Amino acid sequence: MKGGKPLVGEVTVSGAKNAALGILAASVMTDEDVRIENLPDVRDINVMLDAIAEIGARVSRLDAHTVVINGGPIDECCVESENMKRIRASYYLIGALLGRFCTANVPMPGGCDIGSRPIDQHLKGFRALGADCRIVNGKVLADAERLRGSHIFLDIVSVGATINIMLAACLAEGRTIIENVAKEPHIVDVANFLNSMGAEIKGAGTDVIRINGVKRLHGTVYSIIPDQIEAGTFMFAAAITKGDILVKNLIPKHMEAISAKLIEMGCEILEFDDAIRVVGTERLRAANIKTLPYPGFPTDMQPQAGTALSLAKGTSILTESIFESRFRYLDELTKMGAEVRVEGNTAIITGVEHLSGASIQACDLRAGAALVLAGLSADGITTVSDIRYIQRGYEHFEQKLQSIGASIELAEDDRASMKFLLSAV
Ligand code: UD1
Repeated sequence: MKGGKPLVGEVTVSGAKNAALGILAASVMTDEDVRIENLPDVRDINVMLDAIAEIGARVSRLDAHTVVINGGPIDECCVESENMKRIRASYYLIGALLGRFCTANVPMPGGCDIGSRPIDQHLKGFRALGADCRIVNGKVLADAERLRGSHIFLDIVSVGATINIMLAACLAEGRTIIENVAKEPHIVDVANFLNSMGAEIKGAGTDVIRINGVKRLHGTVYSIIPDQIEAGTFMFAAAITKGDILVKNLIPKHMEAISAKLIEMGCEILEFDDAIRVVGTERLRAANIKTLPYPGFPTDMQPQAGTALSLAKGTSILTESIFESRFRYLDELTKMGAEVRVEGNTAIITGVEHLSGASIQACDLRAGAALVLAGLSADGITTVSDIRYIQRGYEHFEQKLQSIGASIELAEDDRASMKFLLSAV
């Protein structure tokens, strides 16, 4: 890509990847047709759909964003798919299969390498519901005679554990109360989806979720909410490139922590019913940012924010409080001229006026997106390798960026990179 040009125009946000992953897993909990709309067309979603098909569900992809799933023919609670080991949300099939069939055999989850990511809170929840859970040869084996509602207090606010326990508890006998739960928008979306299938879940979006177990779930038609993190990434794209972007198809309430920081950094934010316009400023101002569970500043926006701070006037303190190793992208930014010192879970960033183009590597999904934005603001040419990470979670990222003026190409090989280099000089 060739940087230095403000990104200007309109961009439309796709469906929420992390909501979709929970919803796809939940859709195997009935033997009736479930139609899911506004599905993002990204790699993690396709891996999940393949795994669901592999255990016997009928998966009909009507178009890139619509799928009909029928879990009636499922004859196998053992998920073998090699690809499932690479995604984080494979763990949702434990909750879904355990809820419906009282047994699950699923590979330990993978996902981005951003530090240790235990699943003890998930297992604690399943055990409280009466399941026997073991980890054997890299797989989670969960079995129960029957699941019974329980009172569960999570030790850590966990998105994955909240959704997973909610899935299993929907079909448990009696009442489950889960306390100290996560409140992210996609938790509310998965709960709304399950309720549309006949589940009785109350309190999603607050600290306590109450579930009355039902005997069975039925089919539904459901449209997934917009992706908060994709929306936030384009909002930061305006800030980082001094651009002016109207980000369409988002829920402004979900963006409050992000909008507030952008205003603090000097951007202008104009809010509409389902869109936000971000007008960048000639020079961003430094700010202190700490990641927190929702409604705090999302950890999945930390690399995009760190990239913006690397260009802001003054010194900023960026604190990552959710994951232990989510600063590796800062080494790549340093290659572009950023001035950063990392101490434990804190990065002290002194903004520079310009970044300069370099060959850098995407180290995970959100870091990859952030480094692309860095390249689009930098002087000269930047090459970001390992973009497969970005493709896991951003639909047509380079095309959406091109549509707002970015000079960026997806290069399949060295020859294509060279062609771009020659045309860009
Ligand atoms: C989900 C999202 C991820 C996002 C994260 C935090 C998906 C597929 N991924 O990941 O994009 O960055 O939420 O918003 O939706 N923890 C434990 N024990 C557990 C579970 C979690 O100690 O059993 C810890 C984790 O190590 C981490 C923290 O709790 O430090 C939060 O993790 P969690 O919210 O569970 O994140 P994920 O569900 O993995």
